Amino acid sequence: MRNVTKDNITEAFMGYMGDDVNPRLREVLGSLVTHLHDFAREVNLTHDEWQLGLEFLEKSGMICDDERHEFVLLSDVIGLSSLVDLLHSRPEGTSSSVLGPFHISGAPPLAVGGDMKDRFDGPLCLAEGIVKDTDGNPIEGATVDIWQTAPNGLYSSQDPGQDTYSFHGLQTTGPDGRYAFTSVKPVEYEVPTDGPIGEFFKACGRHAWRPSHLHFIVKAKGFRSLVTEVFPEDDPYLDQDTVFGVREDLVMRYQNMEAGTFPEGFALSGKVDGPYIRVDFDLTLVRE
Ligand code: BEZ
Ligand code: FE
Repeated sequence: MRNVTKDNITEAFMGYMGDDVNPRLREVLGSLVTHLHDFAREVNLTHDEWQLGLEFLEKSGMICDDERHEFVLLSDVIGLSSLVDLLHSRPEGTSSSVLGPFHISGAPPLAVGGDMKDRFDGPLCLAEGIVKDTDGNPIEGATVDIWQTAPNGLYSSQDPGQDTYSFHGLQTTGPDGRYAFTSVKPVEYEVPTDGPIGEFFKACGRHAWRPSHLHFIVKAKGFRSLVTEVFPEDDPYLDQDTVFGVREDLVMRYQNMEAGTFPEGFALSGKVDGPYIRVDFDLTLVRE
């Protein structure tokens, strides 16, 4: 197009795409650029504001490495990750929730009843439940990838005081569909604020806190994979999760268990003589 104007530039962009472009790419990219153009026109975006935005993206890119995923964090804190989840969630199964930037693959196998607390201090938490289908039947052979922070609110990849796979474990259900493990009681924590996202929070007058939670990725043959997390009902940040991850059905309740009630069948059985907390939470998968 020779005479590009503020009113026809979107049409010009669309016209530059080749005839044989993948139709979904045309739809998604075309819509993204159309909305970006509309946004710039709507707010009458200035050069300085546009430059600030580009610098923000550039700084975000510069801080990224194999373990630091600032663009994932950006997507999380603006609610885009959660919106994509919500667009594809299936009400008959357990809700999905954000993966976040701290999942690492290759977690070591954790026997049903195994322990992730290890040498770390903090209140002992026993978690268990059934992986089941939408009719309530247990699913055998489901894998449950579990991860959480240490009591200091840091994931292993953020903390030299932890081993690579501290507070990570991969469990496989037996015929009863049961997963079960012990760990420390999860704590609330702030998402990283030492990069551009910290500046974003400051500019928006926002805090960086997430309510305490346990993460799960549950996979089983013939079922949709589930990426989710569960939150205690009494967490102070439940209604203001900075990454918008809380869903009603993901809220769980801790039971305070008295000394002497620790059950058999756990790696720590016979070794726990004090009080502990317990949470029962079933995970429901939807067929593919
Ligand atoms: C997390 O829960 O690990 C997390 C999710 C989104 C952003 C940062 C952390
Ligand atoms: Fe987390």
